Amino acid sequence: MRSIPAALAVSLCACNYSVMDIASVPDNPTYAHDVRPLLSDHCLVCHSSPPDRGAPSYFRLDVYPDTNGVTGAGNMAVTLLHDVTIKKMPPGVGSTEGVGPNGAAMLQKWVDNGAPE
Ligand code: HEC
Repeated sequence: MRSIPAALAVSLCACNYSVMDIASVPDNPTYAHDVRPLLSDHCLVCHSSPPDRGAPSYFRLDVYPDTNGVTGAGNMAVTLLHDVTIKKMPPGVGSTEGVGPNGAAMLQKWVDNGAPE
């Protein structure tokens, strides 16, 4: 039996839901243009409406405003940055890159700028 080439084997093993880091940190990140796509790649599988995989239902990250008593991403900005920074979220980042260094820096800049929509 032929063995698969090493490079192919490596790419096949990158089999979790995390994606590569974003290329650069935007100057003035907004939720709609920059942050939501990042959250979509790393968070929304659990933190949408309805929440999935045991995620809490008091907040959702797929929309910016609070809706029907459910806190939106705008008012979760500081908390979500915190959880990403301490590598609590996304779950299991001990063995992966999480949102990546540029992704984390972008979230930090977004919060520093007041988490604009
Ligand atoms: C695989 C599902 C899953 C993914 C992906 C995920 N989360 Fe979570 N998240 C959870 C669960 C489950 C909890 C509740 C855990 C707990 O309370 O300890 C939670 C809780 C949270 C909380 C509230 C916890 C607190 O400290 O009050 C925040 C904020 C959060 N997640 C942000 C994020 C962000 C930002 C991402 C993406 C970078 C993300 N999560 C990705 C499942 C997920």
